[in-house]
Formats: sequence, structure tokens, C-alpha cells
Amino acid sequence: MEKEKLKEEVKQHWNKASCGTEFINEEKFSKKYFDSIENFRYKIEPEIFSFAQFSRFHNKKVLEVGVGAGTDFLQWARSGAIAHGIDLTNESIENVKNRLNIYGLKCADLKVADAESLPYENDFFDLVYSWGVIHHSPDTFKCLKEIIRVTKPGGKIKLMIYNRHSLFAFYRWLIAALFKGKPFRSFKNVLFYDQESLGTKAYTFKEIKKMLKELPVKTKNIKATVSSHDLLYYKSKQVKFIAYLFACLFGWNRVGWFLTIELEKMENK
Ligand SMILES: C[S@@+](CC[C@H](N)C(=O)[O-])C[C@H]1O[C@@H](n2cnc3c(N)ncnc32)[C@H](O)[C@@H]1O
Repeated sequence: MEKEKLKEEVKQHWNKASCGTEFINEEKFSKKYFDSIENFRYKIEPEIFSFAQFSRFHNKKVLEVGVGAGTDFLQWARSGAIAHGIDLTNESIENVKNRLNIYGLKCADLKVADAESLPYENDFFDLVYSWGVIHHSPDTFKCLKEIIRVTKPGGKIKLMIYNRHSLFAFYRWLIAALFKGKPFRSFKNVLFYDQESLGTKAYTFKEIKKMLKELPVKTKNIKATVSSHDLLYYKSKQVKFIAYLFACLFGWNRVGWFLTIELEKMENK
């Protein structure tokens, strides 16, 4: 499928419901609604705090790419960062505007924009942060280049991209391919057609390192620590125990679904 058409599909998917809002039964845009989204997110993804380190960016210019329902964006605002946020969808920006309003928080800038063409000048941000976004965009490499372009030399970049060689990807393959009598479908194919918006990609460590090699960044850390999604948090104790054994066997920091990447933009020569 042509890239612009695919991006339209991605936009339509996330415009129906922003990430993390689909299971919330409270009245839309009420305080209870936003509190529930936040409680649920950090219950199942607590690792976000140690990765993002929100409070270290007080008074710093931060851009969050793909804010979704804005749970992390709220933490930038609470931490006193000069917070800028973008997302491809109106639904997301509406969520976040209402959310900031309800908690009495402010941000520098929040708008609909495309990660493949960021509406910011070069060398502007102290930090660009993006959790679970650029693998949904048809041209992930272009998003990466844009993120680096708008980061200051010496500035930081923190990204989470899905890991194809992960326990979670394996479970998705079991359900969508093997148990449906289609064992020849690849992980790539299953994730593209059956994981969130159409066209979702997941990368291996090798593929990420190859992309980064071509770009003006120093890699500070890359890991894929096992998360509650890999440990099947919603299943029985017995199933969770088997998942835990898999994680120990295949490498706790290698087979997690969340591949976290910390980069520093190189100084201009
Ligand atoms: C899985 S959600 C993650 C949202 C948020 N970061 C979070 O962790 O909850 C993916 C988000 O990426 C956004 N997105 C996808 N492609 C994008 C693009 N090219 N530019 C900006 N946002 C994009 C979607 O609209 C959606 O809100």
C-alpha cells in the first residue's frame, strides 16, 4: 500500500480512540476518566518512570512525539518542563487539552502534526521523547531523522519502539497465525495486519543499530526489558509463571516487547 494511504489508515485508527482510553468506562473527559487512564497505564507500564525521568527535565524544552491520550505528557507538564506535544490525530489533542485543563496544568505547545515532518526548527529541544509511536508511521526512518533534526546538539532522545524478537510478538504470532492454522505467516506480517493500527512494525536490535549507524547520534543505551505485556499480566498464575520462565531463559533485557533507546545528538562539527 502506498505510504500516504497507509498513514491515513493509521490516523483513522487512532482517531477512533486514543491509546489507553478504550477500556475506560467513566464519562469521557471527566476527572475520573483521566485518573483511571493514568492509574491503569502506570500499573502495567511502571518502567516508563525510570526511562523518562520526567523530573530531570524541569525548565527544559521537551517535545513529546505522539502524545496519544497524554498520560506521559501530563508528567512533563507536572515536572515543570517547557512541554511541546504533537500527535497525528485530533482525538489525541482533544484528550490532552481537556486533561491539562482538568488538572490546571499548562504546556508550551500542543498540536496535530506528523512525526515524519515536524513543525519545529533545527536544534531546538533539550529532549525529544516518544513512547510507542514511530513504528506506527509508514516511514519510521524519516521520523527518526526528524526527531534528531529538532534536537539540540548534545540533547537527549528517548524512544520506545516495539521489539520483533520478543515474547509478546511470539504470543501474537501464536494467536493470529499458529492457532488459526496459518503457521507460515511471519511475525512481521502478523504485527503489520493484526497489531493496533494497520502497518505496525517491530524491529530487531540489529535493525535498530543499522538505522542509527547512519545518523548523527551517540547511542547511550538500548534494551528490551521484559514488561507486564510479555509476562501476560491478565492471565492465570500458572500461565504467568511459564511466561516468566521464558523470559529468564531467553534474556530479561533482550526479549521484552518494549525496545527502549536512549540517544544523544552529536555536537555540530
Ligand atoms: C500506541 S499510541 C501511543 C501514544 C502515547 N505515546 C502512549 O504511550 O500512550 C500511538 C500514537 O502515535 C500516533 N501516531 C502514529 N503515527 C504518527 C505520526 N506519523 N505522527 C504523529 N503521531 C503519530 C497515533 O495517533 C497514536 O496517538
